[in-house]
Amino acid sequence: MTTNTRDTDDATPSALDELRATVQARYGAVAQRVADGVQANASCCGPAEGSSGCCGGTSETWDPITADLYDAGETAGLPTEALLASLGCGNPTALAELSEGETVLDLGSGGGIDVLLSARRVGPTGKAYGLDMTDEMLALALENKERAGATNVEFLKGHIEAIPLPSNTVDVIISNCVINLSGDKARVLAEAFRVLKPGGRLAVSDVVVRSGLPAAVRENMALWTGCVAGALEESEFLAMLTAAGFENPSVEPTRVYTRDDAVALLQGTGLDASLADEVEGRILSAFVRATKPGVAQARPKPARALPTAHGSPATRPSARACGCDDGCCT
Ligand SMILES: C[S@@+](CC[C@H](N)C(=O)[O-])C[C@H]1O[C@@H](n2cnc3c(N)ncnc32)[C@H](O)[C@@H]1O
Repeated sequence: MTTNTRDTDDATPSALDELRATVQARYGAVAQRVADGVQANASCCGPAEGSSGCCGGTSETWDPITADLYDAGETAGLPTEALLASLGCGNPTALAELSEGETVLDLGSGGGIDVLLSARRVGPTGKAYGLDMTDEMLALALENKERAGATNVEFLKGHIEAIPLPSNTVDVIISNCVINLSGDKARVLAEAFRVLKPGGRLAVSDVVVRSGLPAAVRENMALWTGCVAGALEESEFLAMLTAAGFENPSVEPTRVYTRDDAVALLQGTGLDASLADEVEGRILSAFVRATKPGVAQARPKPARALPTAHGSPATRPSARACGCDDGCCT
């Protein structure tokens, strides 16, 4: 399979299936580990297999991408298992300005943390859908829905390249570190555009990269399933959003990964740690926004503001999702 391209539009369907199967195997295993009681944080959007979370008892590797995404106050009351299964690279729900009564769809919902947070924000008159292709993740998400007692939540099985919802039915699409994993990103954005209502918003967190990332990084499958090698450059993402029909696309960096982060990301990939010098500053988490043209229906009152953890690294609160302080991971 070719992995040195971020979008495999020209790949055969079997190449796309092969990529999906690799991603599915990776995240199925992560979900199983969480179901077995091990924190997933460091083993998803970081490449090191067999590592666990920053505060996990078997912690070996800290994942700079998945750590510190949610403020403890924001996630209070959510099932612990939903926090342990958090595998994203941002906090799209906090940034998406959801309103009561809205319909939200989370592409690649994993263990369901952002669906549950969205469900709180849109309230009983709204609805939060999660879409994922991995059975083990869906099982975890359903258990978390039960634990949370959420009644306005539905998890769907399917591919983000073929969203199983009717056209013009969703107010807001969120996603947390998933679009980079797709081998057909143009199709994902076309599908997102299709299901959004006129005036609907795309508000996703994802990894993006800057030019100059070494080819060895681009071609590394562990770094593809680890959310890095498949990431688009900022300009590519903007161009693809425009090509899909979206208006006002923007990419706002939320974290720029340092040399130390790069060393952590390279661990377990088989690549030389010296590549960290070239990786430093070229991998970012970003909040990507765009709007489907048209007039949105009058939005109900914005949901009650919740504390967020999406500030700059310098201002972000130190509490981790697991409830520990920064010091616990040093
Ligand atoms: C990095 S995890 C993120 C999970 C979740 N968004 C979070 O923040 O915890 C990626 C998730 O996307 C799902 N996924 C990846 N590619 C997909 C695709 N093409 N269609 C549907 N789900 C996909 C995986 O099964 C996995 O659950």
